[in-house]
Amino acid sequence: MSELNQIALKILSDGKGILAADESNGTMTKRLKSVNVVSTPENRLLFRETLFSSENMKDCIGGVILYDETINQLSSSGKPIPVLIAESGAIPGIKVDTGAKVLANSPEEKITEGLDGLRERLKKYYELGARFTKWRGVYSISKEHPSKVAIYSNAHSLARYSALVQECNMVPIVEPEVLMDGDHSAEDCLKKTSLVITKCFDELIQHNVDLTGIILKPNMILSGNKSKNKISNEEVSFNTLNCLKKSVPKEVPGIAFLSGGQTEVEATENLNLISKNNDTNFIMTYSYGRALQQSALKFWSDDIKNIRGTQDIFNHRAKMCSLAAKGKWSKELENK
Ligand code: 13P
Repeated sequence: MSELNQIALKILSDGKGILAADESNGTMTKRLKSVNVVSTPENRLLFRETLFSSENMKDCIGGVILYDETINQLSSSGKPIPVLIAESGAIPGIKVDTGAKVLANSPEEKITEGLDGLRERLKKYYELGARFTKWRGVYSISKEHPSKVAIYSNAHSLARYSALVQECNMVPIVEPEVLMDGDHSAEDCLKKTSLVITKCFDELIQHNVDLTGIILKPNMILSGNKSKNKISNEEVSFNTLNCLKKSVPKEVPGIAFLSGGQTEVEATENLNLISKNNDTNFIMTYSYGRALQQSALKFWSDDIKNIRGTQDIFNHRAKMCSLAAKGKWSKELENK
C-alpha cells in the first residue's frame, strides 16, 4: 500500500469524513455577513477554532480542509492551527486553487486557476503540516453547458494539479462540482456529471496520476434547485451510485461528497442512502462545508462567546454525518 493510499484511507475510514473549512476570505465574509458578524481574521479564526476543538472531531472528522489564512494562524493557546487539528486525530489539508475565473470564449463558464507557482506553494504547505489538498473545478448546467471546452480545460487543470500534489507527497482531492443551480432535470445532471467525471479520469490517467492516492469529491445527482420535478432521496442515491460506478476507476479508494447547497438534513439523508445501497468497493463519505457548519454558524453568531453551545451543535452534525457515512443514520437519531 502506498503512503498516499494510506493517507487517503486514514482520512475516510471508519465513518469519518472531511470538514471543508476552506472558504476563501470573500466567501467567508459573505457567510459571516449573512449572520451579521463582522468578517475579521480574528472572527474567522474564532469560529473555526471553536469547531476544530470540538469533541466529535476525534471520531467523525478524518481531515480538515483549510484556507491559506487559517493554516498560517495560531490558536488562542498559541498552537499552530494544523497542530491543533492533528491533535484531534484529523489530517490537515489545504485548498490550493486560486478560484474559478471566466473562461475565455465561453464567458458564462468558469476555469479554475492556480497552477502557476503551485509546486513552490505546495512545499510550503507540506512544511506547515498539510498532507492533502483540494482543487475545485466548477461547471454549470444549461442546454449548451458545460461546453466541451469547459469539460476539457477543467479536467486538464485538475490532472496537472494532482500530479504536482502527488510529487510533493500529498493526496489531491479532485473536485469537479456540477452546480445544482437551474431548472434542469436529474437526468440531465446524471448525463453531464458522468461526462465531466469521465473526462477528469481520462486526464488524470494521461498525467500518470496514482489513482490509489486521490480522493474524488463529486456532487450528488440531483435535479436543479429551480426544477419543479424533484426526485426522491432513494432516486438520488440510485442515480449517484449509477453515475460513479460507470465513471470512476476501481483503483480510487474513496469518494467524499460535497453538499453543494443541500440543507444539512438533505445532505445527511442522501449520504445515508448512498452508503446503505453502496455495492461498490469505494468508501463513500462526506466532505461538507455548509452541511456541517450552517447551524453552528447561526448559533455562534448570536453569541460568539458561547463556545460550548456552538460545539454541541457541531458535534451533533458531525455525528449525524458520520452515522450517514455508515448507513446508520435515522430521522429519530437526527431529532433526538
Ligand atoms: P459545500 O459542502 O458547502 O458545498 O462545500 C464543499 C466544498 O468544499 C466546496 O468546494
